[in-house]
Amino acid sequence: MVALDYPDAAAAEALLRNLEGIACYIKVGMQLYYSAGPAFVSGLKERGYLVFLDLKMHDIPNTVKGGAGSIAKLGVDMFNVHAAGGVRMMEAALEGVDAALGGGGRQRPTVIAVTQLTSTSQQVMNDEIGIAGSTEDAVIRYAKLAKQAGLDGVVASPQEVRAIKEACGERFQTITPGIRPAGVDVGDQSRIMTPREALLQGTDYMVIGRAITGAADPRQALENIIEELIGS
Ligand code: C5P
Repeated sequence: MVALDYPDAAAAEALLRNLEGIACYIKVGMQLYYSAGPAFVSGLKERGYLVFLDLKMHDIPNTVKGGAGSIAKLGVDMFNVHAAGGVRMMEAALEGVDAALGGGGRQRPTVIAVTQLTSTSQQVMNDEIGIAGSTEDAVIRYAKLAKQAGLDGVVASPQEVRAIKEACGERFQTITPGIRPAGVDVGDQSRIMTPREALLQGTDYMVIGRAITGAADPRQALENIIEELIGS
């Protein structure tokens, strides 16, 4: 999944043109969505892209239910909420999707939960956020809650994929940011792996932003990553 972390639609379109013909899932996050809006997202769908809308909803259940309904109507393939909102809030997201799409056999989007952001180190989680114990324990607890709520998977670090699959089953999906090909700047991420390492852990989807969008030649950067994965 390529993270289209750009300030506006024009910048995002330039990357899409650059990557034309390479099959990849597109992730739209808050920076682009708050600027380009729902029309940009439904436009991507009309052009045939697979779209993950990464808005990380975290609010009272009734509000998340409404928000999830609005997202479902855009026709995205995947969206997410924060597991920290609790089981009832995650269930409300699914209820919002069902209410918006009705019974008519329309396939619902994959709904996943953010566990701990991949930028969060254990020290920050313990000392600032106030969650005791290891990051992995916190991630597993959130993943189990997401599964209990009926969600399809979680966003987590590739370092946690094996433990999540063991706790929640192989079919419970893992979506992993925090991917850094060898030699690429780590930036604000903390719990990282290379694409090859993440694939070997069994991750279902890798989210990759700056390693592609920040490269001098994004198309070449993505092709290099694909080569690395095919060679694994
Ligand atoms: O540039 P980079 O590859 O670090 O981008 C990672 C992307 O994944 C960003 O769009 C970020 O918002 C997103 N993300 C994340 N950690 C999460 C959920 C999403 O880094 N837990």
